[in-house]
Amino acid sequence: MGRLDGKVCVITGAGGGMGRDAAQLFTQEGAKVCAADVNLDAAKETASGCAEGTVFAHQVDVADEASVAAMMSATKDHFGGIDVLYNNAGISPADDASVLDTTTEAWDRVQAVNTKGVFLCCKHGIPHLLDRGGGSVINVASFVAIVGAATSQISYTASKGAVLSMTRELAVQFARQSVRVNALCPGPVETPLLLRIFGDDPAALERRRNHWPTGRLAKAREVVNGALFLASDESSYVTGATFLVDGGLTAAYVTPE
Ligand SMILES: NC(=O)c1ccc[n+]([C@@H]2O[C@H](COP(=O)([O-])OP(=O)(O)OC[C@H]3O[C@@H](n4cnc5c(N)ncnc54)[C@H](O)[C@@H]3O)[C@@H](O)[C@H]2O)c1
Repeated sequence: MGRLDGKVCVITGAGGGMGRDAAQLFTQEGAKVCAADVNLDAAKETASGCAEGTVFAHQVDVADEASVAAMMSATKDHFGGIDVLYNNAGISPADDASVLDTTTEAWDRVQAVNTKGVFLCCKHGIPHLLDRGGGSVINVASFVAIVGAATSQISYTASKGAVLSMTRELAVQFARQSVRVNALCPGPVETPLLLRIFGDDPAALERRRNHWPTGRLAKAREVVNGALFLASDESSYVTGATFLVDGGLTAAYVTPE
């Protein structure tokens, strides 16, 4: 028996990184998955890596309201309803940096995907969960919603703070209707998003490594295992949580080296 038997999950950003890993793990645990991404070819590749009939690939731009509403309707048409929203799509572009240098255009682009995207997925997804009598929403924030860095990505950090507080409010609003809403806050994870940032600058990686108690990046699966728990009924009394999977990063003051 799978831990997600009978559940229909919408995973955004499922064309890469943690979203792709989640589609694989969730389907292995019995879920049916809408693997949604702005990059349709990448979403299709995710689907082709999962068991036949368990995943359908869908193109979505989470920053676009009509596109998000269409994704939810398509999932309902395909699998009969929705039980889990895994709002995972996010961007971290290079031109989002210090407040002194970041343009309003760069600020707006990150907010559109990371903040408005989660808002839209909740706005158009939660009604489907209510139709099923409840469900689980996993909003992906980050450890940067909890601690600051001198090497700033100002819009990204602000967006993740917004996701965290939006999550708490939704959790309270829908608790008595059996819709749980939690913020998954990964530490630094070995995915294309982070490797793009460190790829050209190994010194930047080394500078940060000093601050990680474990001294290493997380594997995608180590975070997605947390999402699996939040998606499943095992977390039935967990809502409004700041669910950190950060290798102790936010607990650290001085690290071993
Ligand atoms: N990698 C990390 O260290 C880390 C740490 C904390 C939080 N996070 C968060 O985890 C989530 C997943 O990150 P990842 O590292 O797997 O990223 P990734 O870049 O590997 O994958 C993100 C996916 O989102 C898709 N996407 C981008 N814009 C989109 C849009 N407008 N609509 C739909 N899809 C879109 C991309 O095409 C990509 O497939 C993000 O929200 C990210 O901010 C990542």
